[in-house]
Amino acid sequence: LHVAVLMGGWSAERDVSLMTGADVIKALESLGHRVTAIDMARDVAIKLAEAAPDIVFNALHGTPGEDGSVQGMLDLMGLPYTHSGLATSVIAIDKQLTKLLLVPGGIPMPGGRIVKSETLYAGDPLPRPYVLKPVNEGSSVGVAIVTNEGNYGNPISRSTPGPWLEFEELLAEPYIRGRELTTAVLGGEALGVTELKPKNGWYDYDAKYTDGLTEHVFPADVPDEIAAACKRIALDAHRLLGCKGASRSDFRWDDQLGVDGLFLLEVNTQPGMTPLSLLPEQARHCGISYPALVQILLDEAVK
Ligand code: DAL
Ligand code: MG
Repeated sequence: LHVAVLMGGWSAERDVSLMTGADVIKALESLGHRVTAIDMARDVAIKLAEAAPDIVFNALHGTPGEDGSVQGMLDLMGLPYTHSGLATSVIAIDKQLTKLLLVPGGIPMPGGRIVKSETLYAGDPLPRPYVLKPVNEGSSVGVAIVTNEGNYGNPISRSTPGPWLEFEELLAEPYIRGRELTTAVLGGEALGVTELKPKNGWYDYDAKYTDGLTEHVFPADVPDEIAAACKRIALDAHRLLGCKGASRSDFRWDDQLGVDGLFLLEVNTQPGMTPLSLLPEQARHCGISYPALVQILLDEAVK
């Protein structure tokens, strides 16, 4: 096949996408496919029309790329592409819209509210500790955990660096103490549960992409009931959102509360495929090599 790999772009996760893209290209070449790599710029439609690939491998993360915009363009161009389609991407990139769809479907998620960043300087929107995050970024870009110790000042100060300076609106959610778990879905099956144990602080951008900063435990050392719940919720969320190919569901689990302490934070429709990423790692544990994973995503795209 002639595969165009869309990567890079101008989202906050450009560098992550370039890492995903580089590994995907290596795998495609090892599989014998012809590859055209496209670093997404405003002329992406022209470049794609010129390349005229059989299929597009979407290796983009964040906005634009994971948010439906690129998917809509590819639909109009009649090009098949990997991962989720337009409507799913629009909903899943937005953490608040995702809740509106999944919570009525019986998926446990933390209650959240959108706040104007400006209003934070007048006082907390929720009791501390709570989390502030942009609704549509990935890789923990722009996430702040506001603690009882007043780590950003109390109230938050407009002179303190934080996402409130950059984003007009943020999603505020109660902070869930405990543990960080994730489950990837591939080809209609939940692959398993990984626990992320960051060596310092929390699973932020550096902990995600710096080798050695986070221990990945697979299968996670959690009770069977919790592992089963992660898999069931990840599959249900994948289906309710209409995800295609692969997705990865990220969880917090308050281990003092048993299964009632398990909360889905979000569903990633363009899960990272970098050397430290979790979808390829879980696939490998299930006997699916990186190139085999890439081939499955291509096959699912034209199903
Ligand atoms: N947003 C990153 C790429 C992930 O979910 O893996
Ligand atoms: Mg994400």
